[in-house]
Amino acid sequence: MDKAVLEMFDGSLGRCTSQSRFLDLFYAKFLASSPKVREKFKDTDFVRQKRALKASLHMILLAAGDESGDPGTYLSDVAEKHNAKHLDVGAELYDLWLDSLLETVEECDPEYSAEVRQAWEEVMMVGIHYLTVRYNA
Ligand code: HEM
Repeated sequence: MDKAVLEMFDGSLGRCTSQSRFLDLFYAKFLASSPKVREKFKDTDFVRQKRALKASLHMILLAAGDESGDPGTYLSDVAEKHNAKHLDVGAELYDLWLDSLLETVEECDPEYSAEVRQAWEEVMMVGIHYLTVRYNA
């Protein structure tokens, strides 16, 4: 992936995660997006979940920057957890996930622009694509 895109994503990720409201806002939007999402997270400890998600956003950045490598190096455990045998997260829920995240970035990043949005979409699609192709693995 283009280094400028990775840099733009990295900068925006830093500006977003420096605000404590970022992940709260994301989960508020994501949970509001569908009863299916609320059902999946009904027993979740969100303090731990927010830490795990923050770490995985950085892992997706590493996967996106490692074109010769396998995203599984960074994301195999997360993919296994979300597959049909475990959390059973189907492809349609990833659209809600990405929309909720992009809306949250728009609200939180003071330097938000069309290019910033594009960088988030490109980088996040590396993770979403990997998790969805591993769904039946
Ligand atoms: C690329 C997108 C996603 C990423 C990077 C991601 C990341 C993560 C991570 C890192 C964890 C914690 C894993 C662990 O405990 O070891 C997790 C848990 C979870 N994720 Fe995702 N996730 C994504 C998409 C989704 C979607 C679309 C759903 C749909 C509802 C979902 C539902 C869950 C649930 C229910 C848990 C378990 C929460 C619990 O422990 O109670 N995730 N996710």
